[in-house]
Amino acid sequence: MLVVLKKDYEEVSREAARMVAGAVRAKPDIVLGLATGGTPLGLYKELVALHRADALDFSCVTSFNLDEYLGLAHAHPQSFHCFMEENFFSQVNLPRERAHIPDGTIRGDYDAYCERYEQSIKSAGGIDLQILGIGRNGHIGFNEPTSSLASRTRLKALSRETVEDNRHVFSSESEMPKCAITMGIGTILESRRVLLLASGRSKAAAVAKAIEGPITSSVSASALQMHPDVTFIIDEEAAYSLTQRDYYRHVLEMTQLFMPERLS
Ligand code: GLP
Repeated sequence: MLVVLKKDYEEVSREAARMVAGAVRAKPDIVLGLATGGTPLGLYKELVALHRADALDFSCVTSFNLDEYLGLAHAHPQSFHCFMEENFFSQVNLPRERAHIPDGTIRGDYDAYCERYEQSIKSAGGIDLQILGIGRNGHIGFNEPTSSLASRTRLKALSRETVEDNRHVFSSESEMPKCAITMGIGTILESRRVLLLASGRSKAAAVAKAIEGPITSSVSASALQMHPDVTFIIDEEAAYSLTQRDYYRHVLEMTQLFMPERLS
């Protein structure tokens, strides 16, 4: 695991954008795994800026989003469809037919739908680079605590903590979805490379458990310890509870020296 410590949210966003842009330039038909939430907003802004100023080209890119609330129409302002359209897809040249987001409006055979989502990831050649945020309870995607570390895309009931964290953006409590469709931890672990972004003190406990705690289904992000190519890009506040910050800085220096491609 690489832990890249940055001063603040702006630096986290810039560093993540630099890495994603590098990956897109190195492989123009890259398959990206995309995340929503407040955390990747700065990353999307930076990527849009690079698209405009530096001709960063998304025309051959395919994307798969991690998750979507169940029961929200695509046009609902709090749907992840809407989030992606507003903050990214409408501002870059990624062809819509190659931008996949789980469909929260489906009814009925959820397993069959989720299996098709998995199949379309496989048909696209698998995810090359997965972007992740992290929930306060350590979830990635909507893989709430106690999700199987081998889980695949599926319907998932949201935890009380997640509902509490997100309901302020819905006009009433009854409007806040209680379930979501999310890629599983097993799905995420199959990505070739993972970038997890975190910012702010509210994420410090989850980040410390994910990086330094035991691997446990109680903290979904701790499963990333089993992945061979994960980079955490986190700011000082999110790094607050890590005990080995000096070592992470040293590892980063050595990586810059001996394996700079891991940071490109
Ligand atoms: C939601 C999303 C996650 C995201 C998390 C944290 O639960 N499903 O993908 O990482 O929220 O969101 P934020 O970045 O807004 O703190």
